[in-house]
Amino acid sequence: MDNSKRAMILGTGRAIPEKILTNADLEKMVDTNDAWIVERSGIRTRHIVEPGTALSSLAAEAAKKALEDANLAATDIDLIILATVTGDMKFPATACFVQTLIGADNAAAFDISAACSGFIYGLQMADSLIRSGTHRHILLIGGEILTSMVDWEDRNTCVLFGDGAGAVVLGPSQQERGILSTHIGADGTHSGLLYNLGCGSINPPTVENVREKLHTMRMEGREVFRHAVVCMSKAMKKALKLSGMAIEDLDLVISHQANLRIIEALGKRLKLTDEQTYVNVDRYGNTSAASIPIALDEARREGRLSEGNLIGLVTFGAGFTWGSSIIRL
Ligand SMILES: CC(C)(COP(=O)(O)OP(=O)(O)OC[C@H]1O[C@@H](n2cnc3c(N)ncnc32)[C@H](O)[C@@H]1OP(=O)(O)O)[C@@H](O)C(=O)NCCC(=O)NCCS
Repeated sequence: MDNSKRAMILGTGRAIPEKILTNADLEKMVDTNDAWIVERSGIRTRHIVEPGTALSSLAAEAAKKALEDANLAATDIDLIILATVTGDMKFPATACFVQTLIGADNAAAFDISAACSGFIYGLQMADSLIRSGTHRHILLIGGEILTSMVDWEDRNTCVLFGDGAGAVVLGPSQQERGILSTHIGADGTHSGLLYNLGCGSINPPTVENVREKLHTMRMEGREVFRHAVVCMSKAMKKALKLSGMAIEDLDLVISHQANLRIIEALGKRLKLTDEQTYVNVDRYGNTSAASIPIALDEARREGRLSEGNLIGLVTFGAGFTWGSSIIRL
């Protein structure tokens, strides 16, 4: 493969809703408390949208910032990939609404569904399309309004999730920079551990189904936790092997921000130092497909990352799905 054409990140952006939901707020909604949430998940606050907010508006805000950072116009983009499981509506694809909102008149647009792994799935797709030469500038967005499918009476899940969007603009690489490797995988035998049963073809949204809350998410937290640590550890090692790099070469690892204990257990398995580990789950909770691009943008803008740094991205989500990537910024 011609490495001179590998994709590189040209710009990043994020959109975070203003409204903050604290653990103290949740104490008034369900039988929980700040100490339990912090101890078991590390989450202190999460940002949430006003009910009825369109995901496309968050995604477009993140996209505009990424385009500005990349010094490109929206009309320079020839493809928009949006990773989400909480799009504006069932169809058309939310990426099409984003196209209109930002004025990316020359772009094709579609959504992908791989839950919390959606951004890395999209990254591999974008890298392959840029390497093949069919596309030059791709806007990849991970965005979720997970609070639209949270059961606010279920303490097992409602304390964990938040809303947001992160975006990257990708283009052909210069010199040694760019995506050195990507790896994605799935194991559908565990689909019953984390899912949203309602609103699909099996259970269309009837009054009865909604009354039974089939439109909200369900999770076997403890099992998901166990698989997340093992799968992300394997996935990170796979991406490192594909790139010819070692753990010690990485300046920063951004793993999916679902739970501080998962991030710490992964760090232990991979023997990561604190300096190599990025954490913002305490402020945002789990934002699913948005979690990695939000963290990436935050790390760049706060000076934790700069040009030439080597980063590892790794994620895990419903399906199960997982993915990893090694990138020279
Ligand atoms: C959900 C999670 C935080 C729960 O932590 P845990 O240590 O596994 O806790 P358990 O599920 O064993 O629950 C322990 C107890 O706390 C209770 N509990 C659950 N949520 C609670 C809450 N918000 N407040 C207080 N108690 C709670 C449970 O009911 C259980 O009580 P019981 O022992 O009387 O039945 C953790 O399993 C997790 O983060 N899992 C992965 C979630 C995830 O990342 N999902 C997305 C992946 S992409």
